[in-house]
Amino acid sequence: MKRRKVILDVDTGSDDAVAIMLAARSEELEILGITVTWGNRPVENCTENTLRVLKLLGKEKEIPVYKGCPQPMVRYLTRQRNAALKTDGISIQKDGKEYSVHPALLNLPPSEMEPQKTHACAYLVETLLNAEEKITLIAVGPYTNVGMALRMEPGIKEHIEEIVLMGGAVNMGNITPCAEANFYHDPEAAKIILDSGIPCRIVGLNATHSAELNLDDARILREQGTAECQFVAELIETRIEALKQMGTGNGYSDAIHDALAVASVIDPAVIEKEVRCRCDVDINGGAADGELITDKRLGYEADDRVKTRVALKGSKEKFFALLLERLGEKKNGSHVR
Ligand code: BDR
Ligand code: CA
Repeated sequence: MKRRKVILDVDTGSDDAVAIMLAARSEELEILGITVTWGNRPVENCTENTLRVLKLLGKEKEIPVYKGCPQPMVRYLTRQRNAALKTDGISIQKDGKEYSVHPALLNLPPSEMEPQKTHACAYLVETLLNAEEKITLIAVGPYTNVGMALRMEPGIKEHIEEIVLMGGAVNMGNITPCAEANFYHDPEAAKIILDSGIPCRIVGLNATHSAELNLDDARILREQGTAECQFVAELIETRIEALKQMGTGNGYSDAIHDALAVASVIDPAVIEKEVRCRCDVDINGGAADGELITDKRLGYEADDRVKTRVALKGSKEKFFALLLERLGEKKNGSHVR
């Protein structure tokens, strides 16, 4: 089988952890490396979390991890843009207990590995410039590393097959009424990517929330008996409980955003509806800061000069079946906890 060469850019993160597990257990993908950005937590935590997940998979010596940028390209220089943001939206303290969508450190044994010495952006530039075949980037955190790499060496464009972005939303938001977190956290980086002309597929909130996993799915995952499935079940339950405690969840289901983005690279059929349209992002610092702007005026679907596609609907059934197939019981029982 011809394997697609990919680099994952993550801010691990609960759903990032599921995305990494799914990618690493899928033969269709050859993970060249994982670059880590700030986002759900400081980049140091996200890096350690990434290493922990690779340790669970027994792949910590196989897949190199590169620590990247600790903050967005420019947005913290414009302080008023952050003043409106009253909450980080991922944690709440109640009766002395913290409930978090993204625990600061994932509930896995600490890693004994260090990230590579090379900075994530330098790794991206070097690897892409020297690539003999085009590489797909799957970016599921704020896009700082990818945006910076494009600024450092625009020539890397020629070596990128496609960038799959988890982020954005059409007429939806999670971190603000109209912005999704990955876009909001570094909108300038998102803009550099969208303006680059590189083919992009955006798997945003419309798709991920249409393919939410729930507590019954978590139970089925637990029954699989593998360490991966048990950990995914725990992450799903943790997310659902945290959102319920914060008053923003329904207490039964939630989107596992980043894993759907990875799933869409493994099997495009997990996306049931996708449109081609010109995309932009608001970087003006007002109420719509970080909002994905999709130009849905007539004509773009037919215009193959437009290189951006936006997923609008996912298939929960196909997504969950893929997770079960890839992370469930292996015949040799090699990764049963
Ligand atoms: C995105 O933001 C992060 O919290 C998640 O890991 C995901 O990448 C969802 O808006
Ligand atoms: Ca993420």
